[in-house]
Amino acid sequence: MKFFVDTADVQAIAELNDLGMVDGVTTNPSLILKSGRDIVEVTKEICDIVSGPVSAEVVATKAEDMIAEGRRLAEIAPNIAIKLPLTWDGLKACKVLTGEGRMVNVTLCFSANQALVAAKAGASFISPFIGRLDDINLDGMELIRDIRQIYDNYGFETEILAASIRTVNHAAQAALIGADVMTAPPEVIRKLASHPLTDAGLAQFLKDWEKTGQKIL
Ligand code: E4P
Repeated sequence: MKFFVDTADVQAIAELNDLGMVDGVTTNPSLILKSGRDIVEVTKEICDIVSGPVSAEVVATKAEDMIAEGRRLAEIAPNIAIKLPLTWDGLKACKVLTGEGRMVNVTLCFSANQALVAAKAGASFISPFIGRLDDINLDGMELIRDIRQIYDNYGFETEILAASIRTVNHAAQAALIGADVMTAPPEVIRKLASHPLTDAGLAQFLKDWEKTGQKIL
């Protein structure tokens, strides 16, 4: 499973990248706002660190304007994935931009049918939002399962990018279902390494080691 980091925090991306945890990055207008940075400048800095796909999102709502914004964002670096919302105009823009050989991440996907039409329009990635479905008492993971099944039934090459991952359980479940990629905030990725039994076991080992009076170095 590929790990994308869902942030525009350059320092957090660099730290995780040094550990080999970063196969790509996703941003959105809210994350750009949170960073307090200029979209072009911060996205360029991220692309200088990460060689995998870096999603940058358009904010236009009409297809022709989305296409123009997408082309502008794609000029930032060769590894830009243009992020388009899952609307009819977004799908039109997806068809044009992927036809030009650009990577497109179709975002804000909340149903299997939306994922189906995004694949038909040639999306490189589909981003179903797990956490936001769970927020309204629906089952985000069921959507990942359905999309996996549909894409496998017909051999669609669009990669399933499990998004809006809020918990470590989301990550494990998406991996078990076979999502190609997950995108999660840096803190969720760091938590994947945590287990209370690891902490307790380490504390006991260190206590016993001290009693031996030995040193390794
Ligand atoms: C994905 O591309 C989105 O940026 C992100 O995963 C949304 O997550 P949220 O629902 O926690 O804002």
